[in-house]
Amino acid sequence: MGRSSTTFSGRWRSGKTTVLRVPQTLASRVLEYARALDGEASLAKDPEAVYRTAANVQLDQPINVAAVPHRSPFRYPGGKTWLVPYIRSWLNTLHPRPQLLIEPFAGGGIVGLTAGIERLADHVILVEKDIDVAAVWKVIFSGQAEWLAQTIENFSLTKTNVLATLSRTPKNPRERAFATILRNRVQRGGIMAAGAGLVKNGENGRGLASRWYPQTLAERIRTIASMREHFSFIEGDGIQAIQSYARERGAAFFVDPPYTVAARRLYSHWQIDQRGLFNLLKRVDGNVLLTYDSTVEISDLANEFGFETQAVAMKNTHHAKMTELLVGKDLTWLHHAQSSSLSLAQTAQATLEFPL
Ligand SMILES: C[S@@+](CC[C@H](N)C(=O)[O-])C[C@H]1O[C@@H](n2cnc3c(N)ncnc32)[C@H](O)[C@@H]1O
Repeated sequence: MGRSSTTFSGRWRSGKTTVLRVPQTLASRVLEYARALDGEASLAKDPEAVYRTAANVQLDQPINVAAVPHRSPFRYPGGKTWLVPYIRSWLNTLHPRPQLLIEPFAGGGIVGLTAGIERLADHVILVEKDIDVAAVWKVIFSGQAEWLAQTIENFSLTKTNVLATLSRTPKNPRERAFATILRNRVQRGGIMAAGAGLVKNGENGRGLASRWYPQTLAERIRTIASMREHFSFIEGDGIQAIQSYARERGAAFFVDPPYTVAARRLYSHWQIDQRGLFNLLKRVDGNVLLTYDSTVEISDLANEFGFETQAVAMKNTHHAKMTELLVGKDLTWLHHAQSSSLSLAQTAQATLEFPL
């Protein structure tokens, strides 16, 4: 049935709509292009509006992470910035609002940071085992964030200074924190595990400095620190942390454990008993959302322990389209969000294919 575009003009972010006639075979590509232009236009006005929640995304279309606020000082391999719209939908549908959001394998902590800063949970607990990554969180949450921010701003990034800093044994957590941030920015792919080489040509031929944005990093660190009463950090084992909070009804667990053969190359700590983890999470009182590479092994584990799964598209660090698996005890929130998003997509198709 034909629908008037004006009936649905609110679905486009750039303003009023009009009806175009295009060859049927080109309609979906033209529409895709128009959507991209519409997204870019509104991105310029309000960068956070495009992918506000899971209702604004299509499960088979990777999210453009440029439209999601980057709050972490890390560029983390396997980082979950792209998942933020889903996280908002998930936490917003939990009633009452979670008292605790626990991120037991925090890494760059984007999910916990977003939840804490956007007040999607009363309190956020980040847990990380890696001594270097842990140093950054300890320093930021323990009143030394300003030192870290200023040290970043004042660092003169030359190859000699980088090598000198990275070869020195840190004398205290804050020196370790600074070296970690630096390493994360100058090693290829943000990989911090031993053996990763330095960035060579980098972005726009900026070489070693191509991912070094001192002002931006300092600003992110200050923002997180300004809200530090909403965060706790535990240096230690994520599994133990889940056990400690297993009886908290008001807890939500966001679980992004190291997984796949690549984890060995990416992280210092990469061995996790995935089956044991599923078995533990099945029995916690709180809500649970896990995210994994989409594999048969994980689908089988999810089935065995009675979890629901949903495949979603994302782009990896090499911009290749990949499929990630969201796993939860109950993914109704995602299906609800999607049913409204589906009607948007259908409406848009109808506007092009059946103009009045
Ligand atoms: C997939 S990454 C998490 C990435 C994170 N979600 C982000 O967006 O940046 C997994 C993290 O778990 C950490 N890790 C590995 N084993 C751990 C353990 N037993 N306890 C806590 N953290 C662990 C690794 O050091 C790594 O930082």
